[in-house]
Amino acid sequence: MIVRPALACAVLLLAALACAADPADHDATAKHSFDDVEHWASVFDDPGRDAWQKPSVVIEKLGLRPGMRVADLGAGTGYFSRGLSEAVAPGGTVFAVDTEPKLVAYLRDRAERDKTDNVVPVLASPDDPRLPDKGVDVVLIVDTYHHLDDRLTYLRRLGHVLAPGGRVAVIDWEKRETPVGPELAHRLARETVVSEMEAAGYRFLGEPGTLPYQYFLVFVLSAKPA
Ligand SMILES: C[S@@+](CC[C@H](N)C(=O)[O-])C[C@H]1O[C@@H](n2cnc3c(N)ncnc32)[C@H](O)[C@@H]1O
Repeated sequence: MIVRPALACAVLLLAALACAADPADHDATAKHSFDDVEHWASVFDDPGRDAWQKPSVVIEKLGLRPGMRVADLGAGTGYFSRGLSEAVAPGGTVFAVDTEPKLVAYLRDRAERDKTDNVVPVLASPDDPRLPDKGVDVVLIVDTYHHLDDRLTYLRRLGHVLAPGGRVAVIDWEKRETPVGPELAHRLARETVVSEMEAAGYRFLGEPGTLPYQYFLVFVLSAKPA
């Protein structure tokens, strides 16, 4: 078949346009308020959650060591706070980051109650985690990735927060019906997360643990952050 150069260029241009990411594709699949702290505490800290969330396995697989700085991005009520705090003590810091002021106050109260002095609650902006540049070794994002808007821009910004060799762990819901978890339309396929993270400059390192209803993906910055 003979393809004329002008036609070939038009085809290539159309293909390029089709591949260009629409920023809306990277917007949150679930937008709701988390200001009813009492309600969300009953959900996030449901005693039955440990059976499928396996927090100690998750924390063990993160490979944290004393002295490390870990950020729990979208920390909610601090379900992971105490375990993370113990994993990086002594000398380490847990940034418990959330955008909901009432949850950040709850995180502070919980840290005071639990005497986890190395937990630092952070009130983030929706488009900025408000963490120090190169100040974090591991970012843990549990059930929060699908709440982030304009993820490519957000993830590139997050790259600036990582110390050299720093990692990002994303745990979120498999895109299939599960006995617990958000509705299907709010979930993102694991391939979507991997391709977005790669587009934002991260390299997929692997899946260190298996959870029954969620994927657990770990990434490292592959290049100088954009
Ligand atoms: C489904 S909850 C998960 C809470 C916690 N990670 C857990 O597993 O129990 C999602 C949390 O992400 C927070 N959130 C939403 N958008 C955020 C953003 N752009 N930055 C930080 N936190 C965010 C919400 O306020 C909420 O507390």
